[in-house]
Amino acid sequence: MVTNHAPWHRGAVGYEVYVRSFADASGDGIGDLEGVRRHLDHLVWLGVDAVWITPFYPSGGFDAGYDVTDYTAVSAQHGTLEDFDRLIDEAHQRGLRVLVDIVPNHSSHLHPWFQAAVEDPDGQYRDYYIWRDPKPDGSPPNNWVSHFGGPAWTLEPRSGQYYLHLFLPEQPDLNWTNPAVRREFEQILRFWCKRGVDGFRVDVAYGVAKDPEFRDNPQLMPITYAMEPNEVFEAFDHLHDIEQDHNLEVFEEWRSIASEYDVLLIAEVRTDDPDRASRYTAAGTAFDLVFYLWPGWAPWDPALLVSRTRAMCDRCRDGVAWVLDNHDQSRSVSRYGGGEVGRQRSLAMMTLLASLGGMPFIYQGQELGLEDGQVATADLADPVATRNAGATGRDGSRTVMPWDDGPNNGFGPVTPWLNATTRPPADTVAEQRKRPGSPLSIHRRLLEVRRDHPDIWQEPIQWLESEPTTAALRRGEVVVVANLGPESAEVELGGPGWKVTFTSWQGSVARVDGDRLLVPMETTVILTRG
Ligand code: BGC
Repeated sequence: MVTNHAPWHRGAVGYEVYVRSFADASGDGIGDLEGVRRHLDHLVWLGVDAVWITPFYPSGGFDAGYDVTDYTAVSAQHGTLEDFDRLIDEAHQRGLRVLVDIVPNHSSHLHPWFQAAVEDPDGQYRDYYIWRDPKPDGSPPNNWVSHFGGPAWTLEPRSGQYYLHLFLPEQPDLNWTNPAVRREFEQILRFWCKRGVDGFRVDVAYGVAKDPEFRDNPQLMPITYAMEPNEVFEAFDHLHDIEQDHNLEVFEEWRSIASEYDVLLIAEVRTDDPDRASRYTAAGTAFDLVFYLWPGWAPWDPALLVSRTRAMCDRCRDGVAWVLDNHDQSRSVSRYGGGEVGRQRSLAMMTLLASLGGMPFIYQGQELGLEDGQVATADLADPVATRNAGATGRDGSRTVMPWDDGPNNGFGPVTPWLNATTRPPADTVAEQRKRPGSPLSIHRRLLEVRRDHPDIWQEPIQWLESEPTTAALRRGEVVVVANLGPESAEVELGGPGWKVTFTSWQGSVARVDGDRLLVPMETTVILTRG
């Protein structure tokens, strides 16, 4: 048995770069690797330890890079392999680790493997994908639905067979029961390991294994035309298409390569159930960390936020990659009510997540307290929105990073690929760096406190007595109290000598009175002693 071995991530904080929207150095309106390189100092100044870069591979362009046509190259839109090498080099010189996104569940339909699979149904590539005959009435082989709307099967007219796609028809699912597919990905992993990456964020790790019998999923409720694709997806109990127990077998093979190069493996999972999510790291034979996405889509519901994050923390402490914002969901500030209220709540939640162990991630622009960007209907780019009338889509969280108040908020010289309303100066990095109470300054201070008080990530957690809308915990000589409720909360500290070292919201004053702490509403405080 190979055990996990990537200790650098203990205590580390990650940062997600959505490469298309981070910075455009080449001037074509699309973010690129050189743009990331030029802004590495922002990440160092903010205080993160690792950067995860979303896919920059050649792609069909149907799902913003998550439909890969070549897994071992850089798309011309995003630069060159030399740019990648330079980026890694300069990141490492600054002490920053680099994680890349790998997409094993599906390729692009334009990938040469799929093209060959269609061209030659008897050839070696046919079995790289998942094909089934229609039912006798011509309909798809089972009732599985795509995450992005419609059935998960598309008929390929030449052979008369259906192929499976858990996402777009342009993203055919790879067949992980085929050892040849496994060998291909071993080569791909080695390719990037040899180029010096420090880890992989594994896209849709929850989907690679399917029910061997391809049984129907039980349907939980009727489907109506008014439903968005994610609501249709939720109308089924996904017993057979995703989150299969044998998913991990694939990644146990990856583990030995990851250990050989000492790189990190982080799984993207979809389940919000802490028991199921923690399975991915439990045995220590597959993933180092599991991205727990639930806080990234849950609305503001203080008691639920407290109970479920606490449950996930208790199940899997150092194995969680915590996410509050990412490129697939509405930004937390918007989800939590928008404006100052949304920002206050987002910071309170982030401070809690940053105190639970594992590896918290910040999504580009989250550190600025951004709300979702405003994109006109005619400019929508996400297929979830453009292919499903009335669906919200993911463009709001994907608009460009506002660096300053120059043209295109300093993203680049031409109109960005995702045209959106310009952000006001108060939302930009340049302005927020100057303002001590800005969300940027508060996030930076939070990371500084973590570095100055390593108890916050390395000591055992002891939960303190509190209201259901408050999470209170002690780790060594650090106490963290997240009062997400609508009134101030009082917490017994079990002894004197504590002082407030960090408050997630500048406008609110937390007070220590002997061995009791009073925390204002929707605020998280960090206390230290000694
Ligand atoms: C990525 C999405 C992408 C999907 C399909 C996800 O989980 O984060 O952006 O559309 O995988 O690859």
